[in-house]
Amino acid sequence: MTASFLGEDYIEIRDLTVDFDGFKAVGGVDLTFLQGRLHFLIGPNGAGKTTLVDALTGLVQGTGTARFRNRDLLAMKSHQIVRLGVGRTFQTATVFEELTVLQNLDIADGIHRKAWSRIGARRRVSERVAEALEVIGLTDLAGKPAGILAHGQRQWLEVGMLLVQEAQVMFLDETVAGMSAEEREETGDLLRRIAPGRTIVVIEHDMEFLRAYADFVTVMHAGKVLAEGTVAEIQANPTVQQVYLGASKEVEVDV
Ligand SMILES: Nc1ncnc2c1ncn2[C@@H]1O[C@H](COP(=O)(O)OP(=O)(O)O)[C@@H](O)[C@H]1O
Ligand SMILES: [Mg+2]
Repeated sequence: MTASFLGEDYIEIRDLTVDFDGFKAVGGVDLTFLQGRLHFLIGPNGAGKTTLVDALTGLVQGTGTARFRNRDLLAMKSHQIVRLGVGRTFQTATVFEELTVLQNLDIADGIHRKAWSRIGARRRVSERVAEALEVIGLTDLAGKPAGILAHGQRQWLEVGMLLVQEAQVMFLDETVAGMSAEEREETGDLLRRIAPGRTIVVIEHDMEFLRAYADFVTVMHAGKVLAEGTVAEIQANPTVQQVYLGASKEVEVDV
């Protein structure tokens, strides 16, 4: 698949390398994330998944290129990357617990404020925030402190913050980890709802969740892309099976 057929958003990564004092956490990765499909990024702990996202969001310096809308994300600062419409969640939730759900979304909305007149901004702000509340299913809890949210709801609030930021690209780093089966299903449905028109990359360990929702899968291992394809192709891949079976002796990975 080549980028010239797409005519829509995509991130095209070429030879991405992240070197920590001689240790290549990401070692020459080529990868393309296309708009409109749920692209799962899997691999054993330490494979380099989070580091890859850190490099694409300006948190660590990588070499190579990561083209998005004629820009190279690797040459940009993290706040510029956010403004360009690339957002991410973290493995540990980052909501403000003392603030309400609404206030958390309002803070995320702040990135738009400078651009508009005050009155215009107010109306736009409430529309964006109200819509995000609906999409993530937290409208009834808007006035509650984020600290009282259940684990799943907190993750959805983080997704809501990305929606409010109008992130066109979302990297979700182990968002469903620790969720109940019911919360996972609701999360999968949420991602399906927001995927059209967006580029969504889901870092995940849970194979059942992957089987249910992944449109495309990239497997990373030791800083490199080990395999790519549909869920069926990945599951049938002997090298992938070997890595997971080998890894399961040392770390807990669902097969
Ligand atoms: N800041 C850092 N300095 C040195 N090594 C790091 C740093 N961040 C991550 N690593 C190492 O890079 C490798 C990849 O880590 P990470 O990207 O977190 O893996 P994953 O998210 O796939 O579990 C690991 O071996 C990890 O210990
Ligand atoms: Mg990680």
